[in-house]
Amino acid sequence: MLSSIKNTDSAKYRGAVKLMVAGGAGFIGSNFIHYMLGKYPDYEIVNYDKLTYAGNLDNLKSIETNPHYHFEQGDITDLTRVNEVIKKYGITHLINFAAETHVDRSIHGGIKDFVLTNSLGVQMLLDAARANNLELMLQVSTDEVYGALGLDEDRKFTEDTPIMPNMPYAAAKAGGDLMCHAYWVTHKTPVIVTHCSNNYGPYQYPEKLIPFFIFKAMDDQPVPVYGDGLNVRDWIHAVDHSRALDLLLHKGTPGEVYNIGVDNERNNLEITKMVLKILGKPESLMTFVQDRPGHDRRYAIDATKILALGWEPVYTRDKFEQGLKETVQWYLDNSEWVHKIHARMSEINQHISAKG
Ligand SMILES: NC(=O)c1ccc[n+]([C@@H]2O[C@H](COP(=O)([O-])OP(=O)(O)OC[C@H]3O[C@@H](n4cnc5c(N)ncnc54)[C@H](O)[C@@H]3O)[C@@H](O)[C@H]2O)c1
Repeated sequence: MLSSIKNTDSAKYRGAVKLMVAGGAGFIGSNFIHYMLGKYPDYEIVNYDKLTYAGNLDNLKSIETNPHYHFEQGDITDLTRVNEVIKKYGITHLINFAAETHVDRSIHGGIKDFVLTNSLGVQMLLDAARANNLELMLQVSTDEVYGALGLDEDRKFTEDTPIMPNMPYAAAKAGGDLMCHAYWVTHKTPVIVTHCSNNYGPYQYPEKLIPFFIFKAMDDQPVPVYGDGLNVRDWIHAVDHSRALDLLLHKGTPGEVYNIGVDNERNNLEITKMVLKILGKPESLMTFVQDRPGHDRRYAIDATKILALGWEPVYTRDKFEQGLKETVQWYLDNSEWVHKIHARMSEINQHISAKG
């Protein structure tokens, strides 16, 4: 696996940074763009996004006139278009968030788009990184590629945990990760792969657990919890994820894999009760619905490697309640964003629950 390959080169930026952010109109990609433009006002950032149902340019409205921010619509599986945009801006670095991400859609809907974007699309980006001699490509992946842990198991995912995805979404992501490994070994294409745990924060499309529950509870509607509600995820704020990716863009070692998580394991029942409490809603709004097929029981990340590199997350386990309160408040404060997204969501099934 990538993690077993040692390389002494570092991925330091040289000269002007022109960063292509694939999938920058989605949840984490837009949080990352806000973070990077705030921290590095001189970097050029090109958001390359297909604008699927999950892509939302409203997430970037506050910076759309920033002269260092550019938007280009395009599909990562369209190599001609990717190359065209890379050449147009003289891109030096590429980070890929673009993916089909909703696990339930990968189970109940068609899987083809998942495989096309999450596997083939990554291979196209690797070809583009190689052909254009990019300094670094960062592939943003998920802890779900490792499969599941037991509730009583005294073990977390490390970078050496075998890739063993259970969900079609995760299998498609794993395909992209393995292609990164192969391009590194075969072509020395400078690529880093990350495996992050479940994210929360502003700008998340409300088919995913936390905003879905916030929206339901805000409207005094039943909040549907899968199965017994005891499935555990390791929750991280999207800003801390962005901080980790920033660090890897500057100090990560090509050919390596890095796990990202803040040791914040919580089960869905706990999350649901916290959201209801923050909103001042009764627990009687919780309803238990039929579990997701093959629902992974527990994910947990060992982040020793990236912490040793100097990553300093802010919303650690003891600050989770604060992070969640701020997130709920963000959705309450941004009623126009919420209203528009509600209007776009009419096709979403009432019973679709969480990513995780
Ligand atoms: N959300 C999480 O909890 C989480 C956790 C770990 C890793 N990740 C990974 O982080 C990345 C971003 O996740 P997210 O939750 O922000 O996703 P998201 O669904 O909110 O956004 C995905 C974005 O990719 C774009 N996109 C989809 N297909 C595309 C294509 N073929 N070409 C170009 N753009 C395309 C969409 O328009 C959208 O803007 C994904 O790769 C995901 O696997 C997410």
